[in-house]
Amino acid sequence: MGQVTQYGFEEELKIYLRADPGARLPIGVDGWRARAQEVLAPGPWGYLEGSAGAEDTAAENRRALERWRIRPRFGRNVEDRDLSVTLCGQTWSSPLLIAPLGVQSILHPEAERATARAAARLGIPFVLSTVSSVSMEEVAREMGDSPRWFQLYPSRSREVMESLVSRAEAAGYSLLVVTMDTTMLGWRVRDLQNAYLPFLEGAGIANYVTDPAFRRMLKPPPEEDLAASVQTFLSVYVNPAFNWEDLAGIRRMTRLPMVVKGLTHPDDVRRARDAGADAVAVSNHGGRQVDGALGALDALAEISVQPVGVPLLMDSGIRTGADVFKALALGAQAVLVGRPYAYGLAVGGSDGVERVMRHLRAEFDLQMALAGYRTVPEIGRDAVTWRGPGG
Ligand code: FNR
Ligand code: LAC
Repeated sequence: MGQVTQYGFEEELKIYLRADPGARLPIGVDGWRARAQEVLAPGPWGYLEGSAGAEDTAAENRRALERWRIRPRFGRNVEDRDLSVTLCGQTWSSPLLIAPLGVQSILHPEAERATARAAARLGIPFVLSTVSSVSMEEVAREMGDSPRWFQLYPSRSREVMESLVSRAEAAGYSLLVVTMDTTMLGWRVRDLQNAYLPFLEGAGIANYVTDPAFRRMLKPPPEEDLAASVQTFLSVYVNPAFNWEDLAGIRRMTRLPMVVKGLTHPDDVRRARDAGADAVAVSNHGGRQVDGALGALDALAEISVQPVGVPLLMDSGIRTGADVFKALALGAQAVLVGRPYAYGLAVGGSDGVERVMRHLRAEFDLQMALAGYRTVPEIGRDAVTWRGPGG
């Protein structure tokens, strides 16, 4: 076995022996969520926790995860385990990724810098959002050689996209994630109720105000008139007219591997593949875009039932080691973790993010071993069964 890991047992011992100075911080996502709600003001809390409409897609993400059940197998010698995964020629230590979440300055003053440092300490790739509150170059400086990917929102301005992509290449981002589900923002009732949109306060636009192509669109520079820059940003950062040919256009902008994020229909996955995607992240944006939609795990199960010709990732609803296991069983090579690390960031900055991700990795390691598996690729569809209504 290549890399022998005992993440689970080591982490348990540290906590039981109280060898960990932060042992009184929450264990488990419910505790982190409750603490995050305590420390955040209503606006940022609503932005983080909220989803679109009746928030039924977010609820369905959880229901879908609950309907699929693990089938543990025993007597298989699971002592030596290897959690590593390889995707698009890149190998990292566990099937976890840190999902792109924009505007992290509303959660913690250190914002994406804190997340970047936690990712670097753990060797977990950080997917930096287009709408980060710290520029991609600054995040890169925090990370040294540690793995990082850049997430791109298809913009109305081709020049801005080209510029962002070439900056990401120059700053050592090794993969481009193109998010297709956000051609505009969903109807987010909590944010509307709070009349809260962080961009209007100038948060989340660091990659734009530092961008030469964006700055050429401005008359007074952002240093002189931030409000005008925000207006220009709002007019270009997403593109309702975006289509599959535009995706092929983004493909031609870079030689980096490209992951298309936000798809849930098998036909869309095929179209993304045909447009040159190297992988697809099955996701409904944590329920923040289309209300009343299919749970992400059900979508993954439907997509992976036949070969689709591209590797799959998945997010939306992942909270526990069991959730990670189910996603892998249903065809994902790795998952993106979203809100849970954001709770950690809000509560404990970089240390909070590190703890949430380390605990999730430990929990997954134990889940995998206790269910009878030693490596990620071994976890196939027969490791789970569906127990829905009538199932
Ligand atoms: C997001 N997500 C997101 N996705 C993306 O591609 N670019 C972005 O800037 C953001 N921003 C963002 C902000 C916040 C506050 C949230 C909660 C989510 C979506 C994210 O990458 C991921 O798909 C979801 O977070 C997955 O759902 P759960 O597991 O967090 O519920
Ligand atoms: C969101 C955008 C920024 O989900 O993707 O809030």
